[in-house]
Amino acid sequence: MSLPPFKIERYFAKYEFTTEFLLCSSDCEAMSVADLLSFEPGAAEKFQTLWLGYTESQGSPTLRKEICNLYTTIQPEDVLVHTGAEEAIYLFMHAMLKENDHVIVHAPHYQSLSEVAKGLGCQVSPWLAREENGWALDLDELRHLMRPSTKAIVVNTPHNPTGYLMPRADFDELHKIAQEKKLLLFCDEVYRESEYNPADRLPAGCDYGEHAVSLGVTSKTYGLAGLRIGWIATKNKDVYRKMASLKDYTTICNSAPSEFLAEVALRNRQKLIDRNLGIIQHNLSVVDDLFTRYSSLFTWVRPKAGSMAFPKLLKGDIERFCDDLVKKSGVLLLPGSMYDDSRNHFRLGLGRKNLPQAVQRLEEYLSK
Ligand SMILES: Cc1ncc(COP(=O)(O)O)c(C=O)c1O
Repeated sequence: MSLPPFKIERYFAKYEFTTEFLLCSSDCEAMSVADLLSFEPGAAEKFQTLWLGYTESQGSPTLRKEICNLYTTIQPEDVLVHTGAEEAIYLFMHAMLKENDHVIVHAPHYQSLSEVAKGLGCQVSPWLAREENGWALDLDELRHLMRPSTKAIVVNTPHNPTGYLMPRADFDELHKIAQEKKLLLFCDEVYRESEYNPADRLPAGCDYGEHAVSLGVTSKTYGLAGLRIGWIATKNKDVYRKMASLKDYTTICNSAPSEFLAEVALRNRQKLIDRNLGIIQHNLSVVDDLFTRYSSLFTWVRPKAGSMAFPKLLKGDIERFCDDLVKKSGVLLLPGSMYDDSRNHFRLGLGRKNLPQAVQRLEEYLSK
């Protein structure tokens, strides 16, 4: 299997640890181990005595039990813990897809959601979200994309990079279609629980039935990317068994310290959500003002969830703009071309505390 370079990762590799302002991060503000442990009396002492042997391949029973609280019908034996969401995407596709299978993928998208399938020799059709529709997906278009060889649909809501959140009626209908056509529905929900209005939160995909797989991670909404703890939740025993068996060839089991810390984080996830949504809401007011002042230079579709948006530059070329901006001002934006978008969009990150200073720097650049 051959995979092309992961464009976003390569772009970040050039700048992530040397640029002053990352104005395009997908995750929320992280925190220190000490700050996380301070959520629970006694946790710091317990962490010191943690045993550093191999852990259970499916993930520790207590962590899986904690993960079940994100869902309504899921049991610990339905949860398989991975090293980040990325490993779970890789294993799902290897476990369930084969050459010439057809897969429909919500686009634009995080690269691995289509690339691993392509690498396996699958035919991949993008199910395209359009800015002029507020980044909505059209279910009729999905029906037209279907082929006899269609095996799976991949959706990501809340969405990277647009912040689109599918309406409940559409999500219900999508599950109905997948069930009727006997397709697997892979629901990338790594930004779930970051809805600005909690009433908009969708049920998790895995709670709709055996056709669906939910993907979660500590990296995004909870701001703990360094833990590298992700998971899938599914009632589909065949998917579970095949993924678990492949995991013996990738990471075998997860990091014991990370599992311990992930459990503390998820037990206290409401505190993390409140903190991170607070940062996002403040940042949104700053960028709302920016885009009002610069409405002739950018389009602005305000997201409904998550830590990202995908505005468009109306004058000039987005790659040259981002390149010049980072060189002259130390502010990193991510050109939409890294998502194969050719319409001059760029990814804007909303989850970092220093966004107001970064926006000020951006505005100084624009005014020159
Ligand atoms: C939609 C989506 N899925 C999966 C991932 C992978 O998450 P992680 O890096 O925590 O493995 C990302 C990361 O940016 C993402 O945005």
